[in-house]
Amino acid sequence: MTLLRDYSARILSILRPIKRSKLAVLPWIFTVSLCLVNTAAAAPSERQLTLFSNNCLQCHAAPHISAPQLGNPSDWEDINAQGEETVLKHVAEGMGGMPPLGYCSACDEQDLRQLIYLMTGMQPSIKSSTQHSKESL
Ligand code: HEC
Repeated sequence: MTLLRDYSARILSILRPIKRSKLAVLPWIFTVSLCLVNTAAAAPSERQLTLFSNNCLQCHAAPHISAPQLGNPSDWEDINAQGEETVLKHVAEGMGGMPPLGYCSACDEQDLRQLIYLMTGMQPSIKSSTQHSKESL
């Protein structure tokens, strides 16, 4: 839980300089925290959080840019409906104002999947979850 609190505090400190209501971000933090508690295996690593804040937030936590915004679930509804594989392809190859890999040249496929979960609120797809076999018993 300490880790979770650190993580939330960190995200808030990243978002603080950006002029948007902290309240709008809280449901997102709540969702991510729940995610982390429920699927411990899928928790992002410290390195992935750094990649996220260094590469993705410059556009996705910047309301003046026409990118879907972090913590704004309505921005992500249609995107998430495409499914994880399609979204991953768009992130890897780029699309419109979204640069290939979101400028994250250090990201491998697992990193990108993890960053997409963080960004979109999407849950890891069942087939790639190692918990599946346990849960279906
Ligand atoms: C230079 C600004 C910029 C950066 C950096 C950036 N994005 Fe984006 N991103 C965008 C824009 C703009 C769109 C909307 C593209 C469109 O709909 O044409 C987008 C769209 C997306 C989408 C939705 C794709 C879809 O299928 O519609 C995801 C997911 C995403 N970005 C994740 C990321 C991640 C993860 C990172 C960091 C690794 C990142 N972005 C970095 C600007 C950026």
